[in-house]
Amino acid sequence: MDIFEKCYNFTEAEKIKGMGIYPYFRAISSGQDTEVTVDGKKMIMIGSNNYLGLTSHPKVKEAALEAVKRYGSGCSGSRFLNGTLDIHEKLEERLAKFMQKEAVQVFSTGFLTNVGTIATLVNRKDYVITDRSDHASIVDACRLCFGNIVKFKHNDMSDLQRVLGSCNDNAGKLIVVDGVFSMEGDIANLPEIVNLAKQYHARVMVDDAHSIGVLGENGRGTAEHFHLEDEVEMVMGTFSKSFASLGGFLAASERVINYIKHFSRALIFSASPPPAAVAACLAALDVIEQEPERRERLWRIARRMHREFRALGFEIGSSQTPIIPIYIGDDIKTFQFWRMLSDEGIFSNPIISPAVPPGSQLIRTSYTATHTDEQLDRVLEVFEKVGKKMGVI
Ligand SMILES: Cc1ncc(COP(=O)(O)O)c(C=O)c1O
Repeated sequence: MDIFEKCYNFTEAEKIKGMGIYPYFRAISSGQDTEVTVDGKKMIMIGSNNYLGLTSHPKVKEAALEAVKRYGSGCSGSRFLNGTLDIHEKLEERLAKFMQKEAVQVFSTGFLTNVGTIATLVNRKDYVITDRSDHASIVDACRLCFGNIVKFKHNDMSDLQRVLGSCNDNAGKLIVVDGVFSMEGDIANLPEIVNLAKQYHARVMVDDAHSIGVLGENGRGTAEHFHLEDEVEMVMGTFSKSFASLGGFLAASERVINYIKHFSRALIFSASPPPAAVAACLAALDVIEQEPERRERLWRIARRMHREFRALGFEIGSSQTPIIPIYIGDDIKTFQFWRMLSDEGIFSNPIISPAVPPGSQLIRTSYTATHTDEQLDRVLEVFEKVGKKMGVI
């Protein structure tokens, strides 16, 4: 059998392209902002994770430019050997202080942070316990570890208890959840997770990719939101969302970070984040700390959009955050809905299985603190028009 046979047999993308509803790999010819340019046409962006609008912040852009002038374009090696710059260390110190943890390790992406943490910590006989809706990078991290992988139903605490009860008492246990679930926009039930973790002697890791800068009084994420920062031992974040850059980090105790530094293959065998990305993160962190009004504006927008989508009759599930899914429930219908939004100048993301369970196909919308009220009015107007045309509302 030819290893390439699966490639020759994969024709779904061509079929969808033939129907004019292929939504992926669209080239944007402007900056990532609330308005973007695609094929020469201006579109309102509601498909970005640029929650605080920092991709175009003058201080963030300036910091990246200055870093290129001083350090050049890349690091040409991993953090472990020749790829550590003083600004990597500065970023780690600043983030540890911000997250109120003993130490931070920066990785080259959020995906690598999960892989490089989970696969390193969960050894033979240990357990990693994950929510069924956890991000793909957690799923893949589990595949790479040698321990036992067990899953519980999405945010279902009695199922988590059942799973914990089935684990060997004497084995190490790590519960890993998304703080904010990336497609559903709901928040992990951290108070109960922490309770159960204590009861069953498990440790907790929260993936706060969508929560840092967004949740909590100071933007420190899900644990701050629930006042549980001392109880959550490990928090990972990514720089590809609120930080408007690229990279990821793990915040934990000094002993855990020291272990990760010396055993994490995703850290040791992959090149470090480039100077421009690191400097942009440092500047973004300044803004996160100094401009809380951005977070407040984001939440006003999120609350308005929850209210108005519900009032129009859309099914938005249990979203509590600036990630608001519009459930459609069928692949082709989701793509058609996306296409009609696109024709009306709205950039959104259609999400189908395996990113969501079959039957839960959705249009993922997400908001930015710098969206104007007029842009949001237009988004709602288009959704109402398309929703009625498609029989969704
Ligand atoms: C919940 C979650 N975790 C991890 C990641 C990976 O982050 P990155 O884009 O920095 O690789 C993402 C990004 O898609 C995410 O949504």
